[in-house]
Amino acid sequence: MTPAELELRYYAVLGLVGEASRMALDYFNRNDSLGVTMKGAQDWLTIADGAVESFLRERLSTLFPTDAVIGEEGGGEASDAVWIIDPIDGTANFARNDRNWCISIGFLLNGRPEIGVIAAPALEELYCARRGQGATMNGQTIAVSGGGEIGRACIELGWSTRIPVQNYLAMVERGYTAGAAVRRAGSGALGICHVANGRTDAYAELHINAWDVAAGLLIASEAGAAVNDFFAGDGISTGNPVLCCTPALAAELEAITGIVSQRDIR
Ligand code: IPD
Ligand code: CA
Repeated sequence: MTPAELELRYYAVLGLVGEASRMALDYFNRNDSLGVTMKGAQDWLTIADGAVESFLRERLSTLFPTDAVIGEEGGGEASDAVWIIDPIDGTANFARNDRNWCISIGFLLNGRPEIGVIAAPALEELYCARRGQGATMNGQTIAVSGGGEIGRACIELGWSTRIPVQNYLAMVERGYTAGAAVRRAGSGALGICHVANGRTDAYAELHINAWDVAAGLLIASEAGAAVNDFFAGDGISTGNPVLCCTPALAAELEAITGIVSQRDIR
């Protein structure tokens, strides 16, 4: 793919995420007509998830017919050029009228993230990154906290029912014992953005899906974070553990989470 073709994809997705944001916000503001159902325990679904994903799939497939699309709701197969979409990340928050949710769109070429765009319309925040070109929030360059003292650190440890609760609680205990303040805010994609702009010092989760992190890991990496090799093995199709943190805390976070990080996303 030529640089011009990548550039075209970046500007196209910026336009699409604006439209998708308006659509999602419209559902969010009409909180009584979300058609909430459960895919499983603590696994929420609203009609906005399906509507936003269908919109993005249709537009991306029309604009770039040779690119593959994978989405949380509709699935899909990876290929050399693939869009990875989470139409609403933080659906439990969205359904409860909590503003901490986002739309996440990543583009990977030959297994490496090239474009990451995350919009949090209810918070009026737009995070963007392209490989090698830095990361921004609402057009301003962002960077990780740089803090290296675990006793001042705030780390987010994501949770889902995909991992035994004992394993999660043991990781949380190691975090507090090491001296960190631990939080969980319900959107993995935004949690990673918060490492990128220094609001927190780390995000980790023992298993997460590619649509939750495909955009965020590039944004965090471009903002200076250490990240793990999430796309190794079958990461795109079956998920993997995730770790991203300010580099000065990488050794402490590896000990807390058991996940190995590196300075650049592969
Ligand atoms: C979930 C959220 C949550 C994370 C889970 C994800 P969803 O996605 O990102 O914060 O801990 O692993 O599955 O269900 O809100 O799209
Ligand atoms: Ca998600």
